[in-house]
Amino acid sequence: MSTMPKVPTTPGADRLPVRLPQLAEAKRLGEPIVMVTAYDYPSAQAAEAAGVDLVLVGDSGAMTVLGYPSTVPVSLDEMLMLAAAVRRGLHTPLLVGDLPFGSYEASDEQAIATAQRFVKEAGCDAVKLKGGGGSVSRAHAIARAGIPVMGHVGLTPQTATALGGYKAQGRTAERALQVARDAVALEHAGCFSLVFEAIPAAVSEALMERIEIPVIGIGAGSATDGQVLVFHDLLGIREGHGARFVKRYADLLDAMTDGVRQFADDVRAGRFPQHDHTYSIDPDEFAEFRRQLEGAHGGVYDLLS
Ligand code: KIV
Repeated sequence: MSTMPKVPTTPGADRLPVRLPQLAEAKRLGEPIVMVTAYDYPSAQAAEAAGVDLVLVGDSGAMTVLGYPSTVPVSLDEMLMLAAAVRRGLHTPLLVGDLPFGSYEASDEQAIATAQRFVKEAGCDAVKLKGGGGSVSRAHAIARAGIPVMGHVGLTPQTATALGGYKAQGRTAERALQVARDAVALEHAGCFSLVFEAIPAAVSEALMERIEIPVIGIGAGSATDGQVLVFHDLLGIREGHGARFVKRYADLLDAMTDGVRQFADDVRAGRFPQHDHTYSIDPDEFAEFRRQLEGAHGGVYDLLS
């Protein structure tokens, strides 16, 4: 019987930090792996309390929390700031930082330097990079530098323009084979795990027979070893319906808007603040305060002298 701690699937004080071997063990045992994105301290705390296995500081944060129109503009420094905030709210799940567009493609040296910043400055346990092609060499370099690296194939939003927009990938035999080549190349390059995004369930299922490292799916059917969703999608903190593969578990944007609207209404109607929301002062202290405030000469400007 294995003595390795199981991947924690429920929250609890006894949870140990998730390590790479536990993910491989979960795959072997067929235990589903749960990953969610997070971008700040409270979303990290929610992920921690919910007992997920991995947290990804995705470059989707460019859109969900920074308001950019795509993932392309987010800078490395912005991603590091988000990742460091997540680190402060997270103890147990494995923390993965997403390398943003333009921070790793130029050379293996650039990729290693960027990955090191995620580990040293933001406290990430691992990094993720997108695509096959040149990314395979970058993944190999990062892994050889001793930093765990996750690959990402199928729809890779950083290169959505080149892939024909935010559309499912691998829907022809030729394109599915390209996804397969990328996935296998990334595994051989030393990735500890892969993300399959927006590929047909049948393609994903066929690929699972060939991949030995844990695969986390998003819009890739149920055959993968785990699932990931974007925090703002699953909690409904974003406008619109989102992609076909999103399941919403809450409507927090509505709840947030409603709360702020009620606050505004209360202030305008004089219903807030009420006595319970205010501080008191000892009556004698207050009397003294008034006496000094009004002063012999009167005039509050005397207080400035
Ligand atoms: O940036 C991100 O949120 C991602 C997930 C969709 C896996 O890469």
